Amino acid sequence: MLQLNASSSRWTAFFLLFLALCSLLTPAVTVKHENFKTCDQSGFCKRNRAYADSALSTSSWSSPYKLEASSVRFDKGLLTGIVTKTVGDETIRLPLSVSFYESGTARVTIDEEKRRKGEIELRHNSKARKERYNEAEQWAIVGGTVLSKGAATTQGAEKGTTRVAYGPAGAFEAVIKHSPFGVDFKRNGETQIKFNGQGMLNVEHWRPKIDKPVPEKKEGEEEKKGGEESAEVDTNVVTADDEGTWWEESFGGNTDSKPRGPEAVALDISFPGYQHVYGLAEHTGPLSLKETRGGDGKYTEPYRMYNSDVFEYEMDSPMTLYGSIPFMQAQKKNSTVGVLWLNAAETWVDITKSSSSANPLSFGIGATTTTNTHWISESGLLDVFVMLGPKPQDVIGTYSELTGYTQLPQQFAIAYHQCRWNYVTDEDVKDVDRKFDKNKIPYDVIWLDIEYTEGKKYFTWDPMTFADPLGMQKQLDEHERKLVAIIDPHIKNEGNYYVVDELKSKDLAVHNKDDNIYEGWCWPGSSYWIDCFNPAARTWWQSLFRYDRFAGSATNTFIWNDMNEPSVFNGPETTMPKDNLHHAGWEHRDLHNLNGLTLINATFSALLARSPAEVSHPIRPFVLTRSFFAGSQRLGAVWTGDNQAAWPHLEASIPMLLSMGISGFPFAGADVGGFFGNPSKELLTRWYQAGAFYPFFRGHAHIDTRRREPYLAGEPYTGIITQALRLRYALLPAWYTACHEAHVRGEPIVRPNWYVHPEDERGFELDDQFYVGSTGLLAKPVVREGQLESQEVYLADGERYFGYFDFEGYQGPGVVKVSAGLEEIPLLMRGGHVIPRRDRPRRSSGLMRWDPFTLVVVLGKAGDAEGTLYLDDGESFGYEEGAFIHRKFSYSAATSVLMSEDLAATGAGGSKKAKEYLKGMEKVRVEKIIVVNAPAAWKGREEVEVSEEGAGKSGAVRKVGMEWFAGEGGKAAWAVVRDPGVGIGRGWKVAFA
Ligand code: NOJ
Repeated sequence: MLQLNASSSRWTAFFLLFLALCSLLTPAVTVKHENFKTCDQSGFCKRNRAYADSALSTSSWSSPYKLEASSVRFDKGLLTGIVTKTVGDETIRLPLSVSFYESGTARVTIDEEKRRKGEIELRHNSKARKERYNEAEQWAIVGGTVLSKGAATTQGAEKGTTRVAYGPAGAFEAVIKHSPFGVDFKRNGETQIKFNGQGMLNVEHWRPKIDKPVPEKKEGEEEKKGGEESAEVDTNVVTADDEGTWWEESFGGNTDSKPRGPEAVALDISFPGYQHVYGLAEHTGPLSLKETRGGDGKYTEPYRMYNSDVFEYEMDSPMTLYGSIPFMQAQKKNSTVGVLWLNAAETWVDITKSSSSANPLSFGIGATTTTNTHWISESGLLDVFVMLGPKPQDVIGTYSELTGYTQLPQQFAIAYHQCRWNYVTDEDVKDVDRKFDKNKIPYDVIWLDIEYTEGKKYFTWDPMTFADPLGMQKQLDEHERKLVAIIDPHIKNEGNYYVVDELKSKDLAVHNKDDNIYEGWCWPGSSYWIDCFNPAARTWWQSLFRYDRFAGSATNTFIWNDMNEPSVFNGPETTMPKDNLHHAGWEHRDLHNLNGLTLINATFSALLARSPAEVSHPIRPFVLTRSFFAGSQRLGAVWTGDNQAAWPHLEASIPMLLSMGISGFPFAGADVGGFFGNPSKELLTRWYQAGAFYPFFRGHAHIDTRRREPYLAGEPYTGIITQALRLRYALLPAWYTACHEAHVRGEPIVRPNWYVHPEDERGFELDDQFYVGSTGLLAKPVVREGQLESQEVYLADGERYFGYFDFEGYQGPGVVKVSAGLEEIPLLMRGGHVIPRRDRPRRSSGLMRWDPFTLVVVLGKAGDAEGTLYLDDGESFGYEEGAFIHRKFSYSAATSVLMSEDLAATGAGGSKKAKEYLKGMEKVRVEKIIVVNAPAAWKGREEVEVSEEGAGKSGAVRKVGMEWFAGEGGKAAWAVVRDPGVGIGRGWKVAFA
């Protein structure tokens, strides 16, 4: 036996203490799996997987759905008919509509006649609505649904089909098969997407619960023991008709009463010839979605979308997270297509791939992969939108037209945000603010988490700790800084709190299944939840933000809506019971994934409404949300929730944000530094370098963590972090231009390789490097510990690339090594682009308003370059009336001229606001032009000729000095024109030869 002497036991004590300390430092890494359902524990998911298995494994499988040919009508872009489902003697009627929109999008909707007509009975005297939920559209869809005049039925050779030609130049076709019912979507005659090709379509129809008589005990028969009985039930064997989960389901001590019985909808959607699918945000796995039915390195669970407060979420997992966008894009060489599954109920998606090769000896050449997906939702309509591309921009463009474009963020919103749970007093906030200045570190926004309130009562300030909120905000305003305060949707159930009193007396909270106010637990303890599906609740919510009611808030206060899945600490899966009732009698089950969107919608309008009268244009609202659905992008920014101060979380943040970008919600970020735990200084530094390339850039930390404001890190870390922040600030014009592209075209702000190079199959899986808008900036932040030498960057094309900081030249295609010391961010500039910057270091972005610009002209292999700049006041809606500057800069090797041209309609309509804005910007000029990869022929040249529109008669030509520098080693030559003196909003030319 091991003997411990006094000193060894002391060491043991030290060791144990050390371990305990380590466990405090190392963030917890395991999600509480037992709190969240697997597909097997979710009745409808399990039933539909079983249904899919039968469809695939039964040779005689025939889908029981038929389109009644005689019911089909087609008029003005809309096809209607009745799909029947035959089960035994019963025929269930399912109204079908297939809409063809001007945008080239097609939409297939299936309802259930009996539920639609209300001819069903609800159990347990429920007051729930009888129809399938049909209002997701009201929240998610805002445009792009004008029926196509050009769509027309066509004759096909195939019998038993109805065919409709539609889309641009009639290049798209929907082949609607009657028996079994299915739809093939074709582009130029080639099938791109198939519905029900695998026979997994399943609409669980309404049926009454028939209580089976309990079999009578025969005399002399012994009572079965519980153990014996359960031994007979094999829970793994479930058929699609297994009644066990139809009428009631329990999980984690909560029972769902399911008054409408089983009502799932499911469909297989295949993408023939497509190797990759992307989307289904938000998950932690790779950008190119994995297969989900087991096998080497594949998931065994489907991707789940059921917005939840998933505490300590895990990496590389199909588990659900805080938000859901049921939008998927499929990619093959030079072709992108997409589907939007418009359903706000709990949804699971299985993905499998099958390969076929024409010739077994062809070694994979000519083999095609088909991606099969199986979508399963608990309730609601079957409602799917189909986009046939062919470019990624076409798919995201039509998706964004449908669900809305990203709000154009305010300038401060894309600058740096400093948050933690919590800045504890108003003096603390002022102190942090001063310390940023003292250390010359730029920042724009400081945040207050829940502790600023009096006892977690939102719209109040703790009088002990935040006695002077207005004074605090006045100090912030001196440097044009803002405050974001948290307001959550749970309202404390406590006497003498006007908010809860009004909520109750006006009956604006979510109800429980018995139609009484629903009570649950969250930060304040016992709470009620505002029901933002109710228009009256939204009006009331708006009133709470008025300056006279939310006293202490100011014009520079903006809002953070957290916990809006909603998070309910004692609820099933940390959220609300599904049989809770919302406005108009909809069950929570039907609209769960929309809940977060409705809250930020109410907050957004509240901020709009409170815009002060003395401001001539209302200020654009800023709202941060944790929970989201398709359409939330119209209303604010999003972050990826409670990550951890661990390297894998830094690494995962990049595919997660790229996924948000291609899912139409690009204004997204992850907590810089990691929420739980304390990052090492190296991790913190690398995280800031990566965060400087997140569209939404915010440092945040849990209440139990140590303070980690950038100035606390110490040298060299503080200096390196400051450089990363300054880089972000210098590039704000490029970021803002990228945000504008998201706002008008739905394009991602940070773009994955496949999106920019859809022709390059080798890059389809890349998700650790990305482009910033269309600037040609290609970043690959370091996300691994101890990687201090170099970073490999993949160049997709044959263009020339250059180091951002040192102009080192790289030639694509292929993998290149870029230097990656701790102080370096691997960042390249693709040849052929012009990048706008503002180089003067300032305390905040607001103070950069009148600063001059630097244009970096990166000549590509053809010697040309092109780029754009979008600029406005960064805070108002004046841009809607033409108060903006939108320029195109282009350099042509043929003429050796760099020119600035008006893009679109700067100052459109000549409105008063546009004139005022442009007048204010008149003096803002370009102070420097840097030409990277400058031609050797410029050597010895010392001047350029500058002409500017409106500069004197016939645009007089001025000579301005230029310097040319030879590139040494592998570096490109460059040239600098200092102070060409041209206006940023003006047309001008700079002739280099
Ligand atoms: C959960 C959020 O995800 C986190 O960011 C926040 O700090 C806490 N709630 C406290 O409000």
